Amino acid sequence: MSTKQDFMSEKNTRTESDDNDSHALRVQNLSKIYDTSAGRVTALDKVSFTIKKGEFVSIVGPSGSGKSTILNMVGALDRPTNGKIYIDDIDIFALNDSEIATLRNKRIGFIFQSFNLINRTTVLKNVKLPATIAGMPSDVADFRALKIMQALGIDDKKDQKPVNLSGGQQQRVAIARSLINNPSIVLADEPTGNLDTKTGNDVFAMLKNLSHKFKRTIIMVTHNPELSESTDRSIFLRDGRIEKDVYN
Ligand SMILES: Nc1ncnc2c1ncn2[C@@H]1O[C@H](COP(=O)(O)OP(=O)(O)OP(=O)(O)O)[C@@H](O)[C@H]1O
Ligand SMILES: [Mg+2]
Repeated sequence: MSTKQDFMSEKNTRTESDDNDSHALRVQNLSKIYDTSAGRVTALDKVSFTIKKGEFVSIVGPSGSGKSTILNMVGALDRPTNGKIYIDDIDIFALNDSEIATLRNKRIGFIFQSFNLINRTTVLKNVKLPATIAGMPSDVADFRALKIMQALGIDDKKDQKPVNLSGGQQQRVAIARSLINNPSIVLADEPTGNLDTKTGNDVFAMLKNLSHKFKRTIIMVTHNPELSESTDRSIFLRDGRIEKDVYN
């Protein structure tokens, strides 16, 4: 029988000693300025921080403080006005658009507040999608997807459409999808924001489990102070700057 250990016990799973001396992410002097008809908005102002492999970091701060902007930059969904981001020591904005797309597909897992699943196809195909894009053979992707789904308790939903699942189940599908290519970093923007308290806590517990047992590096934006305090480290943003960076 497959266990939770199986899908993370592959050769590229990081070891304890790797974790101590290597960084999953380095953000250096990151600035993002939006020019809008209403004027210039400095969404991020020379933000710098590093995240070690296996760390579970939350990003908190008032609405408009730049939390999603940071996640979008780290996920290479948008380019900064200034500054650099290194993922696994790769200077991501030195890459061209096609190289960035590959990096995003292979090294970054995304989990969004609104799940962002494709409702016209099955749960299994949703989970496999990043692997399909990466060119993983379909049977290998099936095997891997089912092992991850089993670990998250949603393997019995594989033939359903996401829309027919509960919010918590849909978010677990999104978590499974984020892990399919064994990414270096998982980015979650308010992953519990659309869920009731209990379901949100369950989803959070799964992320925490992934982080601690399987050494995933996770960055999670949240408005929930209790969840934030339960992560390894909280980075507080205000007006596009780091106000506080504390280990919990
Ligand atoms: N595409 C855009 N064009 C112009 N301004 C933007 C854009 N995206 C974000 N901003 C502005 O940048 C600032 C930071 O926005 P961001 O979305 O990062 O905030 P946030 O901390 O995620 O807020 P929330 O908690 O409401 O999600 C805000 O002032 C916002 O209005
Ligand atoms: Mg946001």
